[in-house]
Amino acid sequence: MNKKIKKILIKKNKSKIVCLTAYSKSIAKILDKYCDVVLVGDSMANVLYGHKNTHQINLDTIIQHTISVKMGVKKTLLVVDMPKGSYTTINLEKKNAKLIMKKTGCDAVKIESDKKNYEIIEELIKIKIPVMGHIGYTPQFKKKFKIEGQTKSEADQLLSDAKSVEKAGAFSIVLECLSSKAAKSITSKLNIPTIGIGSSSYCDGQILVTDDMLGISGFYPKFVKKYIQLDRVIEKAVKKYTREVKTKKFPSRKNIFK
Ligand code: KIV
Repeated sequence: MNKKIKKILIKKNKSKIVCLTAYSKSIAKILDKYCDVVLVGDSMANVLYGHKNTHQINLDTIIQHTISVKMGVKKTLLVVDMPKGSYTTINLEKKNAKLIMKKTGCDAVKIESDKKNYEIIEELIKIKIPVMGHIGYTPQFKKKFKIEGQTKSEADQLLSDAKSVEKAGAFSIVLECLSSKAAKSITSKLNIPTIGIGSSSYCDGQILVTDDMLGISGFYPKFVKKYIQLDRVIEKAVKKYTREVKTKKFPSRKNIFK
């Protein structure tokens, strides 16, 4: 088994797993010092490309960003989202997952579940491609945002989904926007680590979209904590640059070649 995956697995019930997204080398290099997992998420569709959902991002774009991220990652487990439409049949998913692994040198892929595509995970495990599952609010399959698992029957269904993902061979599972109760129950009943986003502190680890927690995405649902308002910091610098260019303060003698 991949050593980085082993390190994630042994954290269950011992210490929290720290995960964030990255789409480029410069951010990945910083995350690599602190995170256990860096995810090249298809959230780049909204965050970087301005799409209204994650559906239109294609495999080539994900691969290009992962090649950049990989340059910044040394110790952290690198996981890549399989975009919508890239795993609709078993042959297609095998071909595309192999392509992602070969072109990027990542450690694993992440697959969103539609409550029935567990065989897709099984088939990748058979060809030794590690898979992170993803249940709950799964943007590739759900049209409307909703907290999942608020009723007993929904929570039971989610637990059954999570168990199917584990049984199929996933090494961990993202729980997106689950009620605290459902997240707690799933985390205590699975042997693989759960990574929460908007799913309470009961999960074995947490993930956020980095641009959200830095305050530059413009998307801040309740579960996002903004650790800095980086948009303000950037604006201040751009404003100063503009002023200095206009007043000819920049470039100064220090910034020119003699
Ligand atoms: O695409 C993404 O960034 C994700 C995380 C939010 C889990 O799937």
